[in-house]
Amino acid sequence: MSRIKSTSLRHKIMPAEAAAALIAPGSTVGMSGFTGSGYPKAVPQALARRMEAARAAGENFRLRVWTGASTGPELDGALAKADGIEFRLPYNSDPIAREKINSGKMEYFDMHLSQVAPMAWQGFLGPLDTALVEVTGITGDGSLIPSSSVGNNKTWLDRAGKIILEVNSWQNPALEGMHDIYYGTALPPHRVPIPLIRPDDRIGQTTFRCDPERIAGIVLTDTPDRNLPFAPPDECARAIAGHLIAFFEHEVKKGRLPENLLPLQSGVGNIANAVLTGLNESRFENMTSYTEVIQDGMLDMLTSGKLRMASATSFSLSPEAAANLNANMENYRSKMILRPQEISNHPELVRRLGCLAMNGLIEADIYGNVNSTHVMGSRIQNGIGGSGDFARNAYVSIFMTPSTAKGGAISAIVPLASHVDHITQDVQVIVTEQGLADLRGLSPKQRAELIINNCAHPDYRPMLRDYYTRAREHSYGQQSPCLPAEALSWHQRFIDTGSMRI
Ligand code: COA
Repeated sequence: MSRIKSTSLRHKIMPAEAAAALIAPGSTVGMSGFTGSGYPKAVPQALARRMEAARAAGENFRLRVWTGASTGPELDGALAKADGIEFRLPYNSDPIAREKINSGKMEYFDMHLSQVAPMAWQGFLGPLDTALVEVTGITGDGSLIPSSSVGNNKTWLDRAGKIILEVNSWQNPALEGMHDIYYGTALPPHRVPIPLIRPDDRIGQTTFRCDPERIAGIVLTDTPDRNLPFAPPDECARAIAGHLIAFFEHEVKKGRLPENLLPLQSGVGNIANAVLTGLNESRFENMTSYTEVIQDGMLDMLTSGKLRMASATSFSLSPEAAANLNANMENYRSKMILRPQEISNHPELVRRLGCLAMNGLIEADIYGNVNSTHVMGSRIQNGIGGSGDFARNAYVSIFMTPSTAKGGAISAIVPLASHVDHITQDVQVIVTEQGLADLRGLSPKQRAELIINNCAHPDYRPMLRDYYTRAREHSYGQQSPCLPAEALSWHQRFIDTGSMRI
């Protein structure tokens, strides 16, 4: 109750069940949440119980769900388990929801994260009935203090017919002041330049505006964010980090990067986190980041002082790091800025700031086309997330991966990507534990030689070379030599035998 300073709003406090009852079957709900941070934790579970009860009574209760990105098990997991999501955007990493999508039971619109808010405003996604948003508190004038992620909350709050808030007292009140909520975005022809020049510029306000008339309910919670622990960097992750840091050293020596590098963008997952650990142990100082999520490695870099500041839209921390941050929020607040994802991932800002983009992949082909999303071309793993926002616009666009997946049974380097998220022109560097391929300025054939020699696992190099040699002999054209049927049978071999090794 003390988190709600606006006394006129206190009468709207209600149990999660009552708030869930305000949401009609078939409606569209814009929920907060970005990775396991700042997502509503009580109302989605109450909704899931309603959905189960409806099913037991022979009725259908499903929702269209929009979020910032992935969320936690209390949201995506609970709703997907209750078969309650009819349509979902824009990014998912929940295993139950993934299964529903891949079995055809849930429609999923995978989109660039910077484009969610503008597209919601364009209107073709349909009306937004309800915003369900976790906040840290409500100020005396009714403004909302954001939680541990910002995501698309500004847009949901501005656009939804009604608003349900979860005020989570687990979130440290010292979060107040960390956020930068920019209200200057508009659709063309009214769009103007975004006045952000450096990653640490503040261009907005620290709270969300919120029309009190549209607040239909407020639910009090006291529940931690939920993220998965990171695996400690193994030999493979350390090797990838080592190649990448040697590349940065080389670029500095050549005068192509400044001594403190350029703003870092670091993707999701263990490898990205391990690279940050490597950078924390490197000689680089006074670095900055302009990125989507602040993960453990980045927090460590802020603690050591190697990273001067971090700009993002969310935290993506292990439970241990989240507890550490929550306990020491005052110390970190001046070094971090959380922004709406349309700003944290804004292509024009990424291009202007000159971000060094470092993202994971599922597979890359020998020409450098990257698949970040689909296993065997048809099964979605997570989604494109912000990788496209950053990769196309980065100063240097880097993709990193172990050279094999599934204990060595699958090569991450293939003749032809079974699905393409990032075309060869958007992929400048590929790094595996085997080595690094700097693809800048190279033709497709030159790229193929380098990727096979530097990045592919030695077990797979003979197969890839054999394919490439025959492609050089028999391909229809010699710009990007390819034998499509054979290239696709590379994937078929895995389906047939469970392994690419023969
Ligand atoms: N074939 C089959 N499966 C593969 C594979 C391949 N070539 N490569 C990876 N996988 C599987 C892994 O085995 C693992 O499966 P499991 O969960 O059953 O063990 C899963 O895909 C994830 O791979 P993992 O090695 O754990 O990688 P990761 O956590 O680094 O994630 C991506 C890699 C590509 C899935 C992840 O980076 C991603 O979602 N990227 C897109 C979004 C993005 O880049 N966001 C950041 C922008 S700011």
